Parts: sequence; C-alpha cells; structure tokens
Amino acid sequence: MLIQNASWITMNGAASTTVPVFRRLFVCRKPIRSAVLEVTCDGVYDAVLNGRRVGEFILAPGWTEYRKRLQVQSYDVKNLLKENNTLEITVANGWYRRTNAPWTGTQNPDEFLPPMCIAALRIAAEDGSEETILTDGVWEASQSTVTMSGIFYGEDVDMTREPVFAPAEVCDYPKSMLIPQEGPEVREQETVYPRTSFRTPRGEWVIDFGQNLTGYMVFDLEARAGEKLYLSTAEVLDRDGNFYTGNYRSARSKLQYICKEGRQRYKPRFTFFGFRYLRVDEAPEGFTAAQIHAVVLHSEMKRTGWLESSDPMLNQLFSNIVWSQKGNYLDIPTDCPQRDERYGWTGDGQIFCRTATLQYDVRQFFRKWLADVRAAQHDDGWVPEVVPSLTAYKPGGGAWSDAVTIIPWQLYQTYGDLSFLADMYDAMEKWIAYIPTVSTTEDLWTGCWTYGDWLALDAPPDYVPATIELSKRGYSSDDLVCSAFYANSVSIVIRAGRLLGKDVSAYEALHTRIVRAYRARFGSQLNTQTEKVLTLHFGLAEDPQALADALADQIRACGMKLQTGLVGTPYLLHELSRYGHTDVAWSLLLRREYPGWLYSVSKGATTVWEHWDGIKPDGTFWDDDMNSYNHYAYGSVADWVFGVACGIQPAEPGYARVKIAPHPDPRLNSLSAVLDTAHGRIRSFWKYTEGSIRYEIDTPVPAEIVLGGETHMVEKGRYLF
Ligand code: BGC
Repeated sequence: MLIQNASWITMNGAASTTVPVFRRLFVCRKPIRSAVLEVTCDGVYDAVLNGRRVGEFILAPGWTEYRKRLQVQSYDVKNLLKENNTLEITVANGWYRRTNAPWTGTQNPDEFLPPMCIAALRIAAEDGSEETILTDGVWEASQSTVTMSGIFYGEDVDMTREPVFAPAEVCDYPKSMLIPQEGPEVREQETVYPRTSFRTPRGEWVIDFGQNLTGYMVFDLEARAGEKLYLSTAEVLDRDGNFYTGNYRSARSKLQYICKEGRQRYKPRFTFFGFRYLRVDEAPEGFTAAQIHAVVLHSEMKRTGWLESSDPMLNQLFSNIVWSQKGNYLDIPTDCPQRDERYGWTGDGQIFCRTATLQYDVRQFFRKWLADVRAAQHDDGWVPEVVPSLTAYKPGGGAWSDAVTIIPWQLYQTYGDLSFLADMYDAMEKWIAYIPTVSTTEDLWTGCWTYGDWLALDAPPDYVPATIELSKRGYSSDDLVCSAFYANSVSIVIRAGRLLGKDVSAYEALHTRIVRAYRARFGSQLNTQTEKVLTLHFGLAEDPQALADALADQIRACGMKLQTGLVGTPYLLHELSRYGHTDVAWSLLLRREYPGWLYSVSKGATTVWEHWDGIKPDGTFWDDDMNSYNHYAYGSVADWVFGVACGIQPAEPGYARVKIAPHPDPRLNSLSAVLDTAHGRIRSFWKYTEGSIRYEIDTPVPAEIVLGGETHMVEKGRYLF
C-alpha cells in the first residue's frame, strides 16, 4: 500500500479530545486517468475533497484490534478532482479514544494518543505520468467545526467556528499494523421519518420515530448564526410517558448543534445513537418535526432470511429480531448500541450467531471480526470477553470465550465454507489448550471466572448474592456451564480437525475423558433448566430422553415459564423439540406474559430487550443500571423458528442438501420461512385448513422432507403436501 510511504500527522498542541481537520491544497493540470486515496486514522474520520464527501463508509476505519490491525480504506476519487483541489480529513475520537467510557480502565495507552491521520493519494494522468500526495509536514491542521465528539458522548458542533490552519506535525508512530479494508463498510441503510411528535407530561417536546434503531438524525433548517438545535436521544419513555435516558448510564448521547447563517443540513459525522425518541432541548424559532428524520446505519450485508406467521405479535417479534441484528452489526457484533458499552461481547456474539447467519449474509462481517479474535487472543490462549479487546478486560469464561470455536463452526454450517475453520483452527486449539492450565479439576473447567447463565431467572427467592455481579446471574453452576462449553469446544475442534485432515486422536481421547468426568461430577445435580439444556445440547447426558422429559416437567411445574438466561435460552426450544416436547417449546414461544418472547412485544417493543422484564408489567423499569432495549441475545430464538418450526436444516454444510422437517402447532394458523442459500432459495410454509394441514415446500437441492413421521426423498422443486 502506498500509504506505507506517508507519515502520520497530528495537530500541534491537540488534546486527545480535539477534533482536528487536516488539509492539503494541490493542483492537477493534466487530464486524469485514475486517482485513488488511501486513508486511515486513530479514531474515526471523514475525508472531503473539494467540498464532497469521499465514499460512503460511515465511521471509517471501523473498529479492529487497533494495535495489531488498523484498516486502510481506498477510494476512487477521480470524479471529485478539479484543477485546484482541497482535500480535508477530519479525525474524531470514535472507538479509539473512548471518552466517557467508564469501564475501559485508564491504563489504555491509546486513550492518550493525539488524533492522527495518515493518507496517500496517487493520481495517474492520461499521459502516463503519476503524482503522489502523502501526509507530511506540508499538510495543515486546524480545529474543526466539531468541537467535541465521542461514540458515547454524541457530538457538539459549532458551525460559526472558522478554521485557523497551521502546519501539521509529523508523528513517529508505527505503520506495521496497517492492513487493507477487510470488513463490509458501515453505510447509511434506510430512512425513518417521525411518526408523531408530542409534549410529555413534564412538558418536553419529543419526536417518536416508531422504531428503536441505530443510526443518527438528519435535519434541514434555516437559522441565524449562533442559534441552537440541541437534541437528546432515548429508547423508551417512562411509565408516565416522560423522556427517559437512565439506561444509557454515562453515555451522554446528545447532538448539540450551533447553527451557521442561512440554510443548512446536518447529520452527526463521527458518532451514532441507539434511539427511538428524540427530545428537542432547544431549537431555532419555527423548527418542526417535519425538518428531521432518522437514518439507520449498519454494516453492509444482504438479507437472506424472512419469517412470517399468521400472528401479528409473532411477526413483531420477528421484526424486532431483525432490527436488533441491524442495530448491533455496526462494524462489530455488539451487545447493545446505546449505553456506555457497545462492545464486541464474545458471548452475545456466539449466542446470536446462528440466527444472524440465517437473516443476513454475514460472511465478510465475521471474517473480519474473527481475524480480530485471533489478534486479540493472548499468547497463552485466552480469548478476551470483548473483541476488539480493551486493556482492562479479562478472559471471557465459559460461553463467552468459546465464541472462538462456536462462531466459525456455525459459519461453516450455514455457508459450507471450510476456510472459516481453516483460518480459526490454530486459535481454537490454543483456546482448548488454555483451559486445563487454569482449571482446578482435571478434564473439567472449574474454579474460573465466568458470567454463568447470565441474567437467568432461576435463583430461589431466599438467595442472597454475595456481590452485585452475582445478582445478575442465575443459579446454574458456573463449573457446569464452563465444563459443558469446554466439552463443546473440544468437540468442535475434533469435527473441524477431521474436515481439515488433522490428527485429532488426542482430542477424541480428551473428549471421552471430559464426558466421563462431567457425568461423574454433575450427572446427579442437573437442577436448573439451563443445566439440563446444556447437558442435552452438548451431548453430555447419560439418558437424554429422561433428562429432556424432566426439563419439560420442570417447565410445566413452574407455570410454563422459562427460567434460562443468555446461555441456556438459545438451546432451550431446540432441546425440547428434539426430544418430543415441541408443544412445550411452542407454549414458551407463544407466551405473552413475563417471562416470554411476546411479553416485550405486548409492551410495545420494536427491538429485542436485554431483560425479559426490561419494562415490568406495572410499567416500571427493571433497573437503570443494565437495561438495554436493543440486545439481540434472546433473539436467537429465530433459529428455532427457521430450523425447527419451519424445519429447514442443512443436511450438508451450506445447505448443499437439506432436510425439511417442520414442527407445526395448531395454536398458530400459518408460518413460513424463506432462506436464500448459496444453492438457491428454500421455502417452507405450513397452514392449518379445516382439520388438516397444508405444506408448501420449495427446495433448490435434493431434500429429505419429514412430515408427520413420514419421510419423502425429493429432487429440487416445489412440493405441496
Ligand atoms: C453485556 C452483556 C454481556 C455481559 C457480560 C453486559 O453488560 O451487555 O450482554 O455479555 O455484560 O456478562
């Protein structure tokens, strides 16, 4: 890359929170054949050439394991060039310097780096001559009109501020981590217009977009210089209908804009928000809600899966799951897009991964993130709980760090592409080699930090947790959760290794020992729903049918309620239906009361909530502390709807052959799933009609169709039963 010849530059005297604009003026006299701009920064940037934004990548260069991998973007800028040119690159904090992020620890050296950029422009003329412009001491720098910006902070803008350029300063900073762009770009995806605007009981002027989304607001206005448009964001209103931002914690999430004179249009340049509502805190005279709209941002990815049923509430749930994926696939897979977190939590990433691969083509998205997982993995094998990692963070423990095995395996299942396994095999091996070095029990994973079955509901009423952390998790044994995931990761390494032609005999022997040790240690203590579910799902049960029956009985006995948290929930319905309890699985899915998937829908949710009772039946909140309304983990239930309720399963990885075995339930009149695979479109539809049931199945490849216990082997085609 030409950029290796350029120098990092910064603004003289810039604080780590300054948002500088770097400028280079140059002349092009000859007719141009091609012009390519390479650029990156330690933050997020936008590049503007002759007043026009370069490219469509929002929040470039994205978020990677920066000290090892920093993406460089290449833009074709031929059509933006003129004879006299001004190239401007503005650099804001972005994810690099996470101002206003309380949890990141102060020991992160990146937090103290000044804002820097590096760029190279290669211009080839028609006559064969070439000119290169590299960032160096010829460039100039000034404060920009963005006076303060941060991912959690939002943006402060003063359009009356005039730039004062002075020579930029060349910095001695490494370039070894520069890599070409790998991930799909984050781009503007769709527009959402205000649905209503109203006064709250407290007198606040609030605009409702009708959809919780991730992105930003865009407004057009005519104003006098110095007039202000100040906006705050929120996901929900409180019980009284007032604007509520408590769940953002320390994320300020405001746009504070000081107008220039005349007509103007603005959208934040270096941040994003998770919101449904805007509060207009101050506005120029005459400003109306019609002058503002919202723009949805996420990584470029093609939609591949659709669900639709005869139940509007279920359809809303399906929509919420899609919106939570859109909202949390913004360059990396995040837990939530709004509070002072928005991290690449490995656990959430693996929990939702199967659903994600069905709803969208996420190959490129995960190829980049998994490269960051490899880069973030420590030499002794541990995988951080969040990727990209933060210095203050630690190993993720069972179900979190196991993303290193689970995600590539799932990508292989959905897309049939062995390279996901080949790329990750060493990292997987390193991970399972690490576990015995910290475990307190041979052939199990015990005595280590883990989040357990995070947010589960099964603690007995008299349980008094020793710490606040413990109060947020269920009652499943941490050692069981970790050991079950250890067994699963070893099993994935075995299966992946066989496909890659590796000798896996030592892992096979290890897996046999783990299963034996697991049964001896936990076999008689499978108490919680999650303990049973994990034991079933990872093939660790001695008598799976009896255990599944006990699980179904336990759910019935507690009033047909699930009690599982982040870790147990994704597999719960699968294990019920695998062992003949599909009716219980359906009861859980269709339950409208807390706890259940349709409860949040009954409360008006437009995205998936972090807590089953993020808003309680009486309208109060679960808590301020950890209450996201856009948290996809429980949305993982969509993979049961695709794979079991509609029954679309890959009989061979990548759906090269399929098994279609729907599990209908008369409480729902009809259900359909459409899935675009590399081999074409699969559709599975069922509908109850006067005492019988009609199935419509489209398969682009040979399929085994299983209906009511009968198997039909068919070639590709459309079938009615
Ligand atoms: C996140 C979770 C994450 C968890 C770790 C939370 O704050 O939002 O979804 O996995 O921490 O337990």
